[in-house]
Amino acid sequence: MRRVAILISGRGSNMSALIEAAAAEGFPADISLVISNRADAPGLAHAQASGIETLVIESKPFGKDRAGFEKLLQAALDEHRIELICLAGFMRLFTAEFVRHWYGRMLNIHPSLLPSFPGLDPHGQALRAGVKISGATVHFVIPETDAGPIVMQGAVPVANDDTPDTLAARVLGVEHRIYPQALRLLATGGIRIAGDVTTNSAGVSADDSLVAPTVI
Ligand code: GRF
Repeated sequence: MRRVAILISGRGSNMSALIEAAAAEGFPADISLVISNRADAPGLAHAQASGIETLVIESKPFGKDRAGFEKLLQAALDEHRIELICLAGFMRLFTAEFVRHWYGRMLNIHPSLLPSFPGLDPHGQALRAGVKISGATVHFVIPETDAGPIVMQGAVPVANDDTPDTLAARVLGVEHRIYPQALRLLATGGIRIAGDVTTNSAGVSADDSLVAPTVI
């Protein structure tokens, strides 16, 4: 059983999906700790309601002193003997040193099919680009934002009348599906990193295609 910390800054719906999946019999990871860098993150209450230990380490007082914040963060992770980290809407950049320390053991989820549309407003970016399929990506964290070896992706169709909000809601559904599966793969040692890419012990199905739009 791998000991996992989830780092949040806000709503925490991906956190809740991970907690729910991990509560199932036989899941290979234990959500041992939820850490928020904001005391007002709504996700904290959900974690507590699920009986998960929570911790607030406010990052604001540290300003640009990233290393200072990470010292406290690392101490908490060590104290709880954390082996894997899942970033779930965690809105704070790390130093390259922290990222290197956790390389291969820290996942993030981004609501686009990376490497398309990293950074802010991914759904607006997708709509402006006119893509017909978007989705979400779970990837290992590297110093560059919203980049790093891709672990799993899920796709959704983009509708003619989508707004960033409606597309976000559709993508969020697939985020909640893939993040627990990606964590399961990682926790069971089913992911190999080779340079910039990963391979896995899972596989794909010939039926796993998505075509959009649908012409009747
Ligand atoms: C998600 O869309 C995630 O992909 C992105 O931030 C959002 C967080 O939502 N990194 P939630 O806090 O998990 O509900």
